[in-house]
Amino acid sequence: MSKLFINELDLKGKRVFVRVDYNVPFDEQGNITDDARIRATLPTINYLLDEGAKIILASHLGRPGGKVLPEFSLKPVAKRLNRLLNKDVTLAGDCIGSEVKKQVEAMQPEDVLLLENLRFHKGERDNDPVFAKELASLCDVMVQDAFGNCHRAHASMVGMNEEVSQSAAGFLLKREIDYFEKAVNVPSRPVVAIVGGAKVLDKIKIIENLVKKVDKIIIGGAMAFPFLAFNGYGIGKATVDESVAIKVLNINKLAKERGVKIYLPVDFVAADKFDGDAETKLVTFQEVPDNWYALDIGPASTKLFSEAMQNAKTIIWNGPMGAFEIDAFSRGTYSMVESVVTAYALTIVGGGDTDLAFHRMGESYKVSFISTGGGAFLELLEGKELPGVAALTDKPES
Ligand code: 3PG
Repeated sequence: MSKLFINELDLKGKRVFVRVDYNVPFDEQGNITDDARIRATLPTINYLLDEGAKIILASHLGRPGGKVLPEFSLKPVAKRLNRLLNKDVTLAGDCIGSEVKKQVEAMQPEDVLLLENLRFHKGERDNDPVFAKELASLCDVMVQDAFGNCHRAHASMVGMNEEVSQSAAGFLLKREIDYFEKAVNVPSRPVVAIVGGAKVLDKIKIIENLVKKVDKIIIGGAMAFPFLAFNGYGIGKATVDESVAIKVLNINKLAKERGVKIYLPVDFVAADKFDGDAETKLVTFQEVPDNWYALDIGPASTKLFSEAMQNAKTIIWNGPMGAFEIDAFSRGTYSMVESVVTAYALTIVGGGDTDLAFHRMGESYKVSFISTGGGAFLELLEGKELPGVAALTDKPES
């Protein structure tokens, strides 16, 4: 990374503002259902504790729209952190203001203070310079560990950096960027990218970028429909936006020029409705009935995709192979999980739905790296620069 890293900062006794992404999921009873994003920040927090810093953690949670809404309080996160660190974590009543300032002034080395939800203030999303300045006034230096939010140019991600003397990457952020570099920019080849899911308009841009970098692309889920439609095949009740056609044309052209192999499903689980109790049948890709939905890839496709992965040295996966949240259409995605974890390759998985498939199968520990980012991971795959990373202090020239 060309940006300053946490181990290059003088931290002893310093007030360190650590931007984390504790935007974790909750169930209806308000319990945290997946604390991976909290656990992933422990290396940075423990390092700061070892260095004798005063640790000020700051995060957003949900989208409260600049209002104080109790259901978006970071209280449950403070409780979980308490347990994970086996240490008192104080939750501040706000993230700026005189009370918070007093709390920070009273901090001793190794104290941990969690600020209340940054998005309770409109200034966070608006990247308001006054709000950014207020945040910056709480600290001596800043550490950025909120990889999952690095695609957002918000006050605590971008604006604040200009107000502090130094802002450096934490361990989580560095690990995410390093793995990504290893997989996409300087990978062990062959590189296989697996792209699925339903957000076709967004993800077609990812394929357009990946086709310039990888050796094979496996396309499943609704992502496959524009490619099949372009070749004149029926895609049942699915529709394809016209703007996507030009992208498909470009991707096919680039793939041909670069010798990149594109793999599409050769069979589907078709259903008469988008529902768990739908009537289903297995069909070849040439025979998807006009008024049915193709909701999962079939066994021939999983075999084909698995064979295509056999010689991979690097595999990057984003997006499920079908509507896997419904049991009847989950088999294709789960079969792909099995193929990925048994491949002798560096495996990187990103995006909420995809890691859920690995967690549900109890296979997440077999993956080289699961990204904590959803949108941020996708933007990296798209080839975009993340504002939260760009804003960090550059490493001094050696
Ligand atoms: C995420 O979960 O992707 C990040 O925390 C960003 O959240 P947002 O999509 O609400 O900005």
